[in-house]
Amino acid sequence: MESSTEPVRRSLKSARVVAFAGAGISAESNVPTFRGADGLWRNYRPEALATAEAFHGDPRLVWEWYDWLRGVIHAAQPNPGHLALTELQRRAPEKFTLITQNIDGLHERAGSHDVVKLHGDLWLLRCTQCGWEGRDERVPLTPLPPLCHCGGMLRPAIVWFGEMLPVDEWERAMDAAQSAEVFLSIGTSAVVYPAAGLVQVAHRAGAKVVIVNPDPTPADELAAWVLRGPAGEILPRLL
Ligand code: OAD
Repeated sequence: MESSTEPVRRSLKSARVVAFAGAGISAESNVPTFRGADGLWRNYRPEALATAEAFHGDPRLVWEWYDWLRGVIHAAQPNPGHLALTELQRRAPEKFTLITQNIDGLHERAGSHDVVKLHGDLWLLRCTQCGWEGRDERVPLTPLPPLCHCGGMLRPAIVWFGEMLPVDEWERAMDAAQSAEVFLSIGTSAVVYPAAGLVQVAHRAGAKVVIVNPDPTPADELAAWVLRGPAGEILPRLL
């Protein structure tokens, strides 16, 4: 069902709201999405770059790719979609949860806080030897692969295919999805599990699901409202 923004805007007032974001919200900031016509996984195979096996096989190659992506994100700015989510949180912080699959940090740069980050953070590095974790925002990174003070190799603190989601973040996400009254699914293809399962969890618990996406997704069938279009244009109209 194709919808107008006005009933959705009204439904957000005084409701418990979850915003669940994917790569599409950063598309208008010129950060490429993973799937679709210009998606990253069209030109690069995920298993060659986004798995622990790939990293152990050729850490320099994997790091060169993520270092390139860090450069792209570093040059990007949050867009009106990110800013609208920040404003929704500012208006009712105790009733709003932002869950993101994105590793780019643009939500925080837009002013959002307490973001539930299901897939980690590209600006955090973790030692494969001693487990040390810390922020490093240098662009480009040198040397590649970067090294820990213990001499171990650092990896991006993100979730690769085949890895577990961070337990605390997942619990926060499930709690929020189960108690949501309105669940906004924004700019995600809704095909990568377990994250995509949050839409079903929220729907089953009685939330009104809203999809914000220019293209169809498998989650559309659960939606009370489908808002077709770019997040940077639609989300500001929900304020
Ligand atoms: P995808 O690349 O799979 O999907 C992006 C979605 O954004 C698509 O449905 C597009 O139609 C939509 N889209 C494109 N431009 C948009 C715009 N301007 N406004 C709103 N939507 C737009 O990205 P995710 O669903 O986030 O994993 O992918 C899930 C995970 O797969 C990612 O977190 C990543 C990837 O492998 C990790 O990094 C671990």
